[in-house]
Amino acid sequence: MKYRTIGTEPGTRREVSVLALGAMLFGSRTDERTSFAVLDRYVEAGGNFIDTSDNYAFWTDDSQGGHSEALLGRWRRSRGIGDEIVIATKLGARPLAPGTGYVDNPEGLSAKTVREASERSRERLGVERIDLLYAHIEDRTVDPRETVEAFGELVAEGGVGLLGVSNHAVWRVERARALAAAAGLPGYEVLQYHHSLLRPRSDVPSDLFPEGSLGAATGELLSYLRAEPALSLVAYSPLLTGAYVRDDKPLPPDYDHPGTPARLAVLREIAEETGAGPNQVVLAWQIGGELPVVPLAGASSVAQLEENLAAVDLELTADQRARLDAAH
Ligand SMILES: NC(=O)c1ccc[n+]([C@@H]2O[C@H](COP(=O)([O-])OP(=O)(O)OC[C@H]3O[C@@H](n4cnc5c(N)ncnc54)[C@H](OP(=O)(O)O)[C@@H]3O)[C@@H](O)[C@H]2O)c1
Repeated sequence: MKYRTIGTEPGTRREVSVLALGAMLFGSRTDERTSFAVLDRYVEAGGNFIDTSDNYAFWTDDSQGGHSEALLGRWRRSRGIGDEIVIATKLGARPLAPGTGYVDNPEGLSAKTVREASERSRERLGVERIDLLYAHIEDRTVDPRETVEAFGELVAEGGVGLLGVSNHAVWRVERARALAAAAGLPGYEVLQYHHSLLRPRSDVPSDLFPEGSLGAATGELLSYLRAEPALSLVAYSPLLTGAYVRDDKPLPPDYDHPGTPARLAVLREIAEETGAGPNQVVLAWQIGGELPVVPLAGASSVAQLEENLAAVDLELTADQRARLDAAH
């Protein structure tokens, strides 16, 4: 395994494995036995960066979620896991009632929610301190100062280590960080966005993002990260849920543009040259890039995880990397 640092402050920064493990479907679509086996193998291979959320996976049974955090809590207890494993969770997108969703009825980012939701996450995970807590989605009904102060209090009290943010417009991230800096409070240091070799169109409206997705790592986000080396990018859904290699996982409509076949063609060439699978080439491209990226991949079997772990040791040449970067 290889590691990189997230965060900057001595008390809260962590060394995490360059491949993070997504636990989104653990305890719901992925049964407990399989989930534990995947978690055990990940840790055995040196992995120490696991991702969940307080709302995972509410859509699988029309509940409010919590399956994934609760499963991780049971796994931690049964294996005697302590501080050595970094578990990141998120709040803000839990539906307020069963049968609703994060678009129509999200818990949001008020001070009250930040405090109460983080306490519930700590209980489900069975931890005193959440290593990394993200604001999962924007809440434009709340003054950003209120959210910044609420997160800052949790860090000051020791209930949270690092702060992160996901699916926010870049200007909202910058504003929140500026407010935190001006108030002498900790700001978001880990940015979790969807990022992969294929890039989606950014102008396709959805229920959550009527102006086009704020969840994908755009050129603007990448330029922000280059300018702010203290920030880290965690890339969610790097495998496009399996679409690089599986016909049963078609690409979403926002990938229907001329850049997609061009990039896929180069990806296939490089997979052939290296003898690695396309998923592994994508993960290696992210891990070894000039801009540090921690891919956050899910796995619903140990075999899938093994394949993904092998990407950590796959080194692409400068020429292969340049061809992947240039294809569009
Ligand atoms: N911040 C956010 O808003 C957000 C949004 C989405 C996800 N996430 C996080 O990102 C994590 C990963 O996201 P994701 O599960 O959507 O996407 P992903 O990592 O791109 O895809 C994972 C899925 O791809 C398939 N897969 C994995 N490895 C494979 C392999 N080697 N060969 C073939 N298929 C393989 C599996 O599908 P099957 O299970 O169907 O076999 C697996 O469940 C989540 O667990 C969550 O922690 C965050």
